[in-house]
Amino acid sequence: MSRSAHPAGPRHADVLPEGHYAAPAEDLNALDPKVWAHTVGRDADGVVTVGGITVTQLAEEYGTPAYILDEADFRDRARAWRTAFGTDADVFYAGKAFLSRAVVRWLDEEGLNLDVCSGGELATALSAGMPAERIAFHGNNKSPEEIERAVRAGVGRIVLDSFQEIVRVAHIAQSLGKRQRVQIRITVGVEAHTHEFIATAHEDQKFGIPLAGGQAAEAVRRALQLDGLEVIGIHSHIGSQIFDMSGFEVAAHRVVGLLKDIRDEHGVELPEIDLGGGLGIAYTSDDDPREPHEIAKALTEIVTRECEAARLATPRISVEPGRAIVGPTAFTLYEVGTVKPLDGLRTYVSVDGGMSDNIRTALYDAEYSVALASRTSDAEPMLVRVVGKHCESGDIVVKDAFLPGDLAPGDLIAVPATGAYCRSMASNYNHVLRPPVVSVRDGAARVIVRRETEEDLLRLDVG
Ligand code: LLP
Repeated sequence: MSRSAHPAGPRHADVLPEGHYAAPAEDLNALDPKVWAHTVGRDADGVVTVGGITVTQLAEEYGTPAYILDEADFRDRARAWRTAFGTDADVFYAGKAFLSRAVVRWLDEEGLNLDVCSGGELATALSAGMPAERIAFHGNNKSPEEIERAVRAGVGRIVLDSFQEIVRVAHIAQSLGKRQRVQIRITVGVEAHTHEFIATAHEDQKFGIPLAGGQAAEAVRRALQLDGLEVIGIHSHIGSQIFDMSGFEVAAHRVVGLLKDIRDEHGVELPEIDLGGGLGIAYTSDDDPREPHEIAKALTEIVTRECEAARLATPRISVEPGRAIVGPTAFTLYEVGTVKPLDGLRTYVSVDGGMSDNIRTALYDAEYSVALASRTSDAEPMLVRVVGKHCESGDIVVKDAFLPGDLAPGDLIAVPATGAYCRSMASNYNHVLRPPVVSVRDGAARVIVRRETEEDLLRLDVG
């Protein structure tokens, strides 16, 4: 099939859906604690502060755009997950959401484990001193070199994703004289209630081995026979930005069913199950995420109940939250460059970043909120679309929002809940330089990932 037309951008020229953002928030200066990091507020002059520092100071010192990360909030959330699951379960932070060496150290100090899914993430984790036995290695196509590095380093588990990988990891481990602890990732046929592109446990997709047709059972059968592997459990990840626990319920039911079949066939009770990540956060005031202790209670109850019914000892549970830990802890600080009212439509507010620092709006139709950060304003609300500086009309950061009508070039605006999958999915499109990540805590700020420079770009371009 050929295509003769190409839309200018996925979100080009569409209009507000009826009833959507029908009215602005009562007070545009208010900062809803649901979407902002814990220490965010406004000072006496109305300037947004985080960790005791104003955004104007941060912009002056570090420039814009910049991701501003609240370290105390990150630690709070990491600890809340750790505490909620207790010592009988493991929390693996999903590094793909955002990883840096500072983050690895915080996780280590707060007693969390780490899920990595590439050689680069593994290198970051190891270089920051995360003990290898607390690292899980994921991926649907790990290279032999990556596998060898992980096995040599002594990672606590490799999550096997295909029949070929079962043999590959077993062979590499055996040739190194090791027995590698592994989990087998299965797809349980659950499609999480979220955007199609990021739902991962239905069967028509690249991850895992389907439970259907006895394939997962066959994978376990083969893995149990290989000397290079110690099969410690089953892994299931059902999707992303999930609010509804019913998907986990079905997944746990099916995973436990497989554990029971394995016990009946092989006389082996696998000691662990991992239910993945995917728990949702609030991007706008309309979202109502659950607290870690509620999630821990729900998941533990589901697994315990299913195991009792199957007469199995309850396995050790692990989870892999990424977004739910780091997502709400950061906001992106931009400077407004132009304000362009389009009569009868909306006002386009162009900022100094865009789809290169936040691809999620263009890619997933994600919703974000935005606030005027360098001052407050009593001006009438205006309907805006916050767009970037890229040569593409789909370059949208916040699709529909309200900002004060006196917004002007030079104002700083902040987009909350950009801690997850923004810096980690950032690109150099149009040779725009990737922003720094600045962490703040107790009145002090420091760069944990520096801003890219033109020299960085030119260094890769060898002429
Ligand atoms: N565990 C596994 C095996 C995963 O594949 C993922 C995410 C997670 C844990 C962490 O999920 P979280 O708790 O962060 O939702 N780029 C997309 C999300 C892709 C998620 C991929 N896997 C986004 O920006 O929404």
